[in-house]
Amino acid sequence: MDKIRWGILGTGRIAGDFARGLAAVDDAELVAVGSRTAESANAFADKFSVPTRHASYEALANDPNVDIVYVATPHSLHKENTILCLEGGRAVLCEKPFAINAGEAEEMIAASQRTGKFLMEAMWTHCLPHMQEVARLIADGSIGDIQVIQADFCFRSKVNPASRLYRPELGGGALLDVGVYPVALAYRFLGQPDAVRTWAHLGVTGVDENAGMVFGYNSGAMAVLTTSVRANTHHIARISGSAGEIVVHERWWAPSSFTLRRDGHEPQEFHPESVGNGWNYEAIEAGRCLRAGLTESPIVPHADTLAVMRLLDGLRAEWGLRYPME
Ligand SMILES: NC(=O)c1ccc[n+]([C@@H]2O[C@H](COP(=O)([O-])OP(=O)(O)OC[C@H]3O[C@@H](n4cnc5c(N)ncnc54)[C@H](OP(=O)(O)O)[C@@H]3O)[C@@H](O)[C@H]2O)c1
Repeated sequence: MDKIRWGILGTGRIAGDFARGLAAVDDAELVAVGSRTAESANAFADKFSVPTRHASYEALANDPNVDIVYVATPHSLHKENTILCLEGGRAVLCEKPFAINAGEAEEMIAASQRTGKFLMEAMWTHCLPHMQEVARLIADGSIGDIQVIQADFCFRSKVNPASRLYRPELGGGALLDVGVYPVALAYRFLGQPDAVRTWAHLGVTGVDENAGMVFGYNSGAMAVLTTSVRANTHHIARISGSAGEIVVHERWWAPSSFTLRRDGHEPQEFHPESVGNGWNYEAIEAGRCLRAGLTESPIVPHADTLAVMRLLDGLRAEWGLRYPME
């Protein structure tokens, strides 16, 4: 493989961000885009200088000049689009949330195993330099045993029943859109909770607009997580342990910095070098895995994606939130 040849499926907001991110990856090139319409495919291809434009997702999925497709459609289409690409012979990096529910995620992972094609959830946060450094410090015991994780992803949006965020048939609501980040963070560092308590407000369209979650662990540790599409909060993640604490600064889920406080030491600020807009790091990880012949990423393994999806299912079940397609 010379350069990893990428295709992008869907031409919305995140597709553009990813295309910009990819431009910062040396050994990757964006060779194709697929859209439901020729008009959108052409507009996107012109904007990002993409040589091949497909007026259907099927054509992109079957394009032999594409090594890996980035799936950037609404959540409700991730399963269908991912399986289409895997069966067309492409590897896939699929946006978060990986699927609407764990059942869909299982089908996607089974398709990856059946076809032998690489599949990864685009949990970009896990791949970012500052979070990789945080993971390394925690694994090295810098803060001792984790006792408390506090994290949020809450932002204020205009209540708009026509938008993806509020439409039940597209998997709308805060949890699947942004709550997945704090849940994935807690899972990454504390694993499967032994108890879950939660509350959510379901709004006019029936999807969750504000939610709080407490995960409890038999070790005594806990995670306190919030998500919202109705209000802005601080976007700080605190990981506190028996010997110290890591505070990941504002917009912890995007490229950021953090402070390490250890008993008996001066606080230490870390500003890991980060180039590009951040989406480049998940592309680098996917490319590294492809070159190594892997079918999943050790940073975002299938088992973790599935476990997080099961947690999201459990939370929604507590709230009585079922989507029309379920
Ligand atoms: N990693 C991140 O930071 C991040 C940030 C934002 C969003 N996301 C995720 O990325 C996915 C897409 O989000 P987005 O904000 O980019 O959405 P968006 O702006 O609405 O774009 C979605 C694209 O999907 C395609 N599509 C196919 N069927 C559609 C339908 N029925 N309704 C609307 N669009 C449809 C469209 O492309 P064509 O018309 O070209 O087919 C559309 O442009 C979501 O799963 C979201 O959670 C991730």
